[in-house]
Amino acid sequence: MSAYEIIDHEYDVVVVGAGGAGLRATLGMVQAGLKTACITKIFPTRSHTVAAQGGVAASLANMSDDSWQWHMYDTVKGADWLGDQDAIEYMCREAVPSVYELEHFGVPFSRTDEGKIYQRPFGGHMRDFGAAPVPRACAAADRTGHAILHALYQQSLKFNAEFFIEYFAIDLIMEDGACKGVIAWDLSDGTMHRFRAQSVVLATGGYGRSYFSCTSAHTCTGDGNAMVARAGLPLQDMEFVQFHPTGIYTAGCLITEGARGEGGYLTNSEGERFMERYAPTAKDLASRDVVSRAMTIEIREGRGVGPKKDHIDLHLEHLGGDILHKRLPGITETAKIFSGTDATKDPIPVLPTVHYNMGGIPTNYHGEVLNPTKDNPDAIVPGLMAVGEAACVSVHGANRLGCNSLLDIVVFGRAAALRAAETLKPGARQAPTPKAADDFALGRLDRLRNANGSHLVAEIRLNMQNAMQRDAAVFRTAESLQEGVKSVAAVASTLKDIKVVDRSLIWNSDLAEALELENLMVCSLTTIVGAEARHESRGAHAREDFPNRDDAEWMKHTLSWCDEAYKVSLDYRPVHTYTLSKDIAYIEPKARVY
Ligand code: FUM
Repeated sequence: MSAYEIIDHEYDVVVVGAGGAGLRATLGMVQAGLKTACITKIFPTRSHTVAAQGGVAASLANMSDDSWQWHMYDTVKGADWLGDQDAIEYMCREAVPSVYELEHFGVPFSRTDEGKIYQRPFGGHMRDFGAAPVPRACAAADRTGHAILHALYQQSLKFNAEFFIEYFAIDLIMEDGACKGVIAWDLSDGTMHRFRAQSVVLATGGYGRSYFSCTSAHTCTGDGNAMVARAGLPLQDMEFVQFHPTGIYTAGCLITEGARGEGGYLTNSEGERFMERYAPTAKDLASRDVVSRAMTIEIREGRGVGPKKDHIDLHLEHLGGDILHKRLPGITETAKIFSGTDATKDPIPVLPTVHYNMGGIPTNYHGEVLNPTKDNPDAIVPGLMAVGEAACVSVHGANRLGCNSLLDIVVFGRAAALRAAETLKPGARQAPTPKAADDFALGRLDRLRNANGSHLVAEIRLNMQNAMQRDAAVFRTAESLQEGVKSVAAVASTLKDIKVVDRSLIWNSDLAEALELENLMVCSLTTIVGAEARHESRGAHAREDFPNRDDAEWMKHTLSWCDEAYKVSLDYRPVHTYTLSKDIAYIEPKARVY
């Protein structure tokens, strides 16, 4: 690999990714006096957090009674009892100070008439332990992620965080089971960089782009997950993929759940508000897995709308232009652009679309990455943290509640910084790192850069996305999943015969996409193999051949390893069935009724 000159950097902490989680972690690290670099493959304010719309959950009780205990109950129930309750307690308690902190950072939240932060109802968020919907989503119109991302970037700059923008992280530097840094490629000038650090924080987001239709940005390619897998570490609960009920029909762009929070509702071809049948209490504000399944059943049973009867109508017309322009301006515009619909007059055509990955890199609630062993299922990997959608804490279990994602990124970005402040010594000297780690990362880059096979990156990616869309869908069966495992493995085998056309190192998007495709393939395979093996229905994982949740056998986290030949092996670790404090008891599993 001598052809590649490497430029060295030394930091206390290197954060990979500059979405909300990465920026909140970066900000906390620099505030704690840790020399911190944030490296990101795109400009920070273009990160996918910018697309988050409806709100960030916190029981501020600005519009009606609320409590963190109710929020915790809803999150445990929404997660279908696969979430770790110590972590869920931490998140729901910390929600309130974290949102006030965002307000003080300058996030321009919408306001009530009294000047308090405006809150709207959101799917699965209820009062009195499931009695009725409660307004808990703290909103900046329908551009909450945008507002948070900009405020966090501004704060990070104010505290002199150092950014390495348009740097693509290739692989971790690992030595004796500990993480020592990361190797990255500067996309703008082609130089290679070795970042040594006491701690690396992966905040690389999800992998929605494993699927053909998703609300995720093209940059959501599971880069951190795959780096972890290539380091021989497991991923967790990858089979749990969330479909958002209201992606715009064909385009897949997000129409926020906040639209239903403001009073929008779904109808089938008979004009029926069918959610009343599936979820008599929460109706259109049931959790996303419930609504997505109901929509899919309506379409399957011939009650879809449109000439092909293949989608559902979302009605906002009755809310009136004033509310739409004040509370939902972004989606009113998106509906116009991507479906030609004037939402003030006509229903928006919608369809469940891949939106979020509950699974990811296993961590504890401090953000420390886990490498579970038989003796210690909570053993940590020294020097490695993960936060945000890349991580599986696990606060979302088998299904995430809407607006708990913006919450997760700020609470656990902050938690990672608090832990680093406790455990790291600012300016501590670091030893040289092994040459084998440089060779591993640059060898991968070099192999792809010179790949001269017969399959273009775009062709392999489309084959993978089509197989995932078809076989790891809202409803799953042994047949579809076994077929999917075979199909995705067959697509993965074509990676040996990949062709990268551009050999340069400067703005080589073909090479960057090839690296991303390898990352996506790791995520796709661990998802579909984990799904095939889980013989129950839980949260977003709906097996038609195993329609019930099976707590006796399956209330456990899936661990999946993916080797260099794309072979996946599985094991399991226990769910945390305890809370952090005496303020709330463990919430016992029961049937989920909305
Ligand atoms: O519907 C939405 O606004 C999405 C929010 C979320 O995924 O948390």
